[in-house]
Order: sequence, then C-alpha cells, then structure tokens
Amino acid sequence: MIPFNAPPVTGSEADYMHSAMASGKLCGDGGFTRRVQQWFEQRCHVPKVLLTPSCTASLEMAALLINIQPGDEVIMPSYTFVSTANAFVLRGAKIIFVDIRPDTMNINETLIETAITEKTRAIVPVHYAGVACDMDKIMALAEKYKLYVIEDAAQGVMSYWKGRALGSIGHIGCFSFHETKNYTAGGEGGATLINDPTLIERAEIIREKGTNRSQFFRGQVDKYTWRDLGSSYLMSDLQAAYLWAQLENADQINQRRLALWQNYYQALQPFAAQGRITLPTIPTDCQHNAHMFYLKLRDQQDRDQLITWLKEAEILSVFHYIPLHSSPAGLQFGEFNGEDRYTTVESERLVRLPMYYNLTDNQQKIVIGSLLSFFS
Ligand SMILES: Cc1ncc(COP(=O)(O)O)c(C=O)c1O
Repeated sequence: MIPFNAPPVTGSEADYMHSAMASGKLCGDGGFTRRVQQWFEQRCHVPKVLLTPSCTASLEMAALLINIQPGDEVIMPSYTFVSTANAFVLRGAKIIFVDIRPDTMNINETLIETAITEKTRAIVPVHYAGVACDMDKIMALAEKYKLYVIEDAAQGVMSYWKGRALGSIGHIGCFSFHETKNYTAGGEGGATLINDPTLIERAEIIREKGTNRSQFFRGQVDKYTWRDLGSSYLMSDLQAAYLWAQLENADQINQRRLALWQNYYQALQPFAAQGRITLPTIPTDCQHNAHMFYLKLRDQQDRDQLITWLKEAEILSVFHYIPLHSSPAGLQFGEFNGEDRYTTVESERLVRLPMYYNLTDNQQKIVIGSLLSFFS
C-alpha cells in the first residue's frame, strides 16, 4: 500500500529528543524551542516566532491578540480547514466567506472588497497547497480599511511571495507542523509569527496562560501575575527537538518535495494539454514548497473513479475540504458573500496524490504508472 502521507523522518529526530530528555527541561520554551524560533525568525525575517501546540492554537492566539469581539466579521475563503474559521467563531465572530480563484484555489482577492463592512475586523488569506495568495492586493485592502491580516500559512512553511516568506507578510502568520505538513514537530505543532512588533508583548502573555511569565524568566520583572486573557499555547520541548531535526534538513526536504512535484507535473502534462484534467497553477510571484500535488478532473464522478482506481492499485489518494459555508457549522456561523462560482464545483473535482518527503522514486513510478493507465 502506498499511503497518501507519511510523516517526514530525517534520521536525527530520536537523538535530539534524547538530548531534550537529558536536559531535564521538557516543558515549553526550552533549548530546542528557542533554537527553532530563532531559526524561523532569521529565515522568515520575522521579529518574533512563538512555537505552539498546533496551527489551530496559533489561529486562536491570533483571534485573541487582535481582540475579536462578538459581532465582528472576519473574511476568509470557504475552501479551507475548519480551524481557520473556528478560531474566530470561538471569540463570537461571524465568518464572511469569499469565493476562490480556480487557478490556485486561493481566496479571490478581487472579491474581498465587496465583502468588507463596518463590522469587518480581519482578512484571513489561506495559502492553499503552499501557493501564495495575492498578498499585495490583500495588504493594500487591509491598509485602506484598517483591517488585520492573519495569514493561515499552515501549508506555506518555506514558501514565498515576491521573495517574502509566507506567514511573514500579514500582521500575524500561522504555521502547522502536523504530520501531514512539510515539517513536523512529532505529529502535531504550530507556530505564531508576530510580524507587527506592537503585538509581541501581548502575544507572549496570551501564550503563557495570560501571565507575564516570559518576562519573568528573562529577568525583566521580579514576579509574574495574571495580566490578560490567555491559554496554554506552548509546544513541549520534546516536540521542538523533533522539529529541529527536520529544520536542519529543511532545504533537502524542500528540494525532494519539489522534485516529486515536478515528476507528477511532467507525467500529467499531456493530459492537461488535451483538456482532460487541470493541473495546479503557480503564479510567477510565488515560490512554492510542493506541499501538495493535486489535479482536477472533469467532475466529481470522474474524480471518484480515479480515487477508486488508485485504491484498487493499493495507492491512497484523497480529496478534502467540504466547503465550510455549506457545512452545518458554516451555515450557523458564517455567510457566503456573493456567488459561489468556483468553491463548490472546483472542490468536488480535486484529488490529492501521495506526496511526502520519504516517498521513494519507485513508489512514485508506481503511482504515475497507475495514473497513466487510468487516463489511457
Ligand atoms: C489551511 C489549514 N489551516 C489550519 C490547519 C490546522 O493545522 P493544525 O492541524 O496544526 O492545527 C490546517 C491543517 O490541516 C490547514 O490545512
């Protein structure tokens, strides 16, 4: 069986986890956490990176940090993971869904302005498949209407928009290190990127259960107290140790994924040229991280046939994201602005192929062989 995903393994994870254990400090903000945070601060040119238990937790932190209140509106695509919306719904916000662009499956930046009202507080672009949203247009709108931009860069670690790291462009960025992502912190994990320096102090407080404990540990205050709303948004140092092993090989992981992506693309290109399938578009301003390889078939029926065909060949492929606006919670907490021209139909014809760092050349050849026989 060729799985759809396998968590990346580079070889030094166990050693680093042992050394975290030997350090006698396993809770958050230990040595590995600091190393990983600094690595991202330097790589992404971000003033503050805070490791968290998940991207879900990072999005929740972001909603607290920008003071989302009941009745506020938050704009995002409907074609996304539930956490993008939940984080803001938990604070009482109403979600305003905007249609996607079919070429990248990202929020259509030209439709955002019509969704902005007096209640709008934030725009949440989701960089689907690690391919950037049009951040110039989105940041310009945010500036014009004084809105926050929270980048859901769960899939965008080590991707760039005009040379800038995804997650580093909006006021706050959120990464995921879940085992399905390019780099994992031992199964679960996330990071909050604080790009607006005025938010740093409060971000540390929210992450430390609403206390100024971070300042206390740095010797900046002589006791710590309850200052604000907060929760426990720290990652265990054992997980940070696992993640460190991956980051030491970050470029190698990225290159391998890009090579696998390219192999799929080249093999399927002839069918795209015949108009039988649609392949992902990478706009020229984006440098992507090959987070996922997807193709789109003619319709849902064709897509499901391909999934069944691959399954019979013991290859697991998946589709995902039932659009949020038509799901029970989406109907309760959100509203689609304008016409759903692409969100539903495009999501129904999309399928994701096995794509992970440790996928071997041989395994990929088997997948490609099965795809070729399906299309012939
Ligand atoms: C777009 C998007 N946002 C948020 C998340 C949530 O990430 P996590 O599992 O780290 O909480 C995911 C995870 O799949 C995602 O794809």
